[in-house]
Amino acid sequence: MRQMLPWSTFSPTRRHILAAGLVGLGTGATALGSSLCRAAEAATLRKLAAEKGLLYGTTIAATQITGDRPFADLVRHEAGLVVAENEMKWQVMNRGAPDDDDYAPADTIADFASANQLVLRGHNLLWYHRTPSWFFNLTDRQQQEQAVIDHIRGLAGRYRGRIHSWDVVNEPIEPKDGRPDGLRTEVFLETLGPEYLDLAYHTARGADPNAQLVVNEYDVELDSPEHEARRGALLHLLEEMRRSGTPVDAVGIQAHLTAAGGPAFSAPLLRRFLADIASLGLSIQITELDVTDEKAPADVAVRDRLVADTYRRFLDAVLDEPAVKMVVTWGLSDRHSWIVRRETYQTKWRTDDATSRPLPFDADLEAKPAFDAIAGAFAHAPQRIPG
Ligand code: XIL
Repeated sequence: MRQMLPWSTFSPTRRHILAAGLVGLGTGATALGSSLCRAAEAATLRKLAAEKGLLYGTTIAATQITGDRPFADLVRHEAGLVVAENEMKWQVMNRGAPDDDDYAPADTIADFASANQLVLRGHNLLWYHRTPSWFFNLTDRQQQEQAVIDHIRGLAGRYRGRIHSWDVVNEPIEPKDGRPDGLRTEVFLETLGPEYLDLAYHTARGADPNAQLVVNEYDVELDSPEHEARRGALLHLLEEMRRSGTPVDAVGIQAHLTAAGGPAFSAPLLRRFLADIASLGLSIQITELDVTDEKAPADVAVRDRLVADTYRRFLDAVLDEPAVKMVVTWGLSDRHSWIVRRETYQTKWRTDDATSRPLPFDADLEAKPAFDAIAGAFAHAPQRIPG
């Protein structure tokens, strides 16, 4: 049984949506309790997505499951899928030596998914940016290859049968590196050559034959020469993988978007790109959606509207493509966002001290206009065959 949240826990925005649902139900007073439950159920992102054959989910961290009960409850309520924000990354799990990995935090997330009947994504098997330092010191090619195989077999094998889809290689392309094939010149390419992709995907297929195998990539969404070059390189890679029989099932579009001050967005251009991917027989997942408001005005109402508009325009465009089967936001509440924490690639643009508001719920777990935008996009999305 899914847990029902009391009415008072819903924000004014959400109560408005729920009340609209109640009007639609035409309830009498005696039926109000159960109608409230039905309306509340109808308004969750999980449910709105599922009605269209879509999976909606979010990242979660083990410490949030163990230490932030209200947030974990919100995840249970809103999400149909979870993905570990960091806990399944090789460098994060590894204690500093080959075959010495700490699976406890990753297990916490996998068990949370099982206990709550949530679909589990795997992120990720190989990412140059989160590779243990000892791997960089290996000089023997056979050892390098064996380390990659052992890692993929160990991690994907541990959760065999429990993972919906694995990001096997994260962020494999970078046209700026100047290779004709557009591949990123990173540690796995430098040690094993471009064949590392074939090795990784075949090993993943063997370790968990029922998991969808995904190529996950960023900055392929917008109308700029840089994104265009990245789209071309990604399509080229996918065509090559298809041609050579490398097992790949889906493409992950990360979609870390900006509400203001970024490159232009063109819905027709993005739709064309998604159709090109679909024509290769691949499904598409939106894997890391969030909207930074770093260059938007400080005024909260203005910022929230710009963020919501960005979600709406993006989702309306991508959900037109029936091959898009999944939408994952990179967090659910501004309380836990890498943008708010300013990690990794996040530059500080603001001169004021305003805290970023990139996700559907604010730091107090109240729904924001971004929630309404995502809910609306799911409600208007064409029906699709789940994937
Ligand atoms: C980010 C996490 O959100 C941060 O907590 C961490 O410090 C760095 O990684 N693309 C990806 C994700 O594929 O794994 C990244 O996650 C965000 C960019």
